[in-house]
Amino acid sequence: MTPKQIALVQTSFAEVVPKAATAADLFYERLFELAPDVRPMFAADLSAQKRKLIDTLAYAVDSLTQPEKLGAEIVALGERHADYGTKVEHFTPVGTALLSALEQVLDEAFTPAVADAWETVYSELSRAMIDAMMRKVSKAA
Ligand code: HEM
Repeated sequence: MTPKQIALVQTSFAEVVPKAATAADLFYERLFELAPDVRPMFAADLSAQKRKLIDTLAYAVDSLTQPEKLGAEIVALGERHADYGTKVEHFTPVGTALLSALEQVLDEAFTPAVADAWETVYSELSRAMIDAMMRKVSKAA
């Protein structure tokens, strides 16, 4: 992740914040279209989950400039996802749904460079979460 990509993610996220509730609605709508099998993993009422999604994204975006702060939290988040029954293959539809929600909310501000920066951030976050998930699962086995 380059400093330029970090700046693009942070400035574009500032534009998402006022429309965060819409972004969260779009995200879950798209996710359950792409991966209906994950729907039962989430509570019937998604309102609390939507708030958590936005808070986590805000926190992660904010912490991109201080990766040491983010590291331990991501490990813990990955370990909790092992308990939620998350599988490695679920990260693909989640990433697609996230990018699609951002694209719809940001519209013209979702330039190719912004898209690329978010893809990089998501893939780095996912890799760290997956590593932690796998370590937890293999310890339990
Ligand atoms: C970079 C990717 C992801 C991030 C940042 C993320 C973030 C979060 C956060 C912050 C929570 C709130 C609870 C907690 O902190 O433990 C959560 C819960 C959850 N996430 Fe994720 N998540 C990601 C990927 C995924 C994937 C790929 C799945 C698979 C379908 C998933 C399924 C869930 C489920 C089932 C819950 C719990 C819902 C509940 O308690 O009702 N997440 N996630």
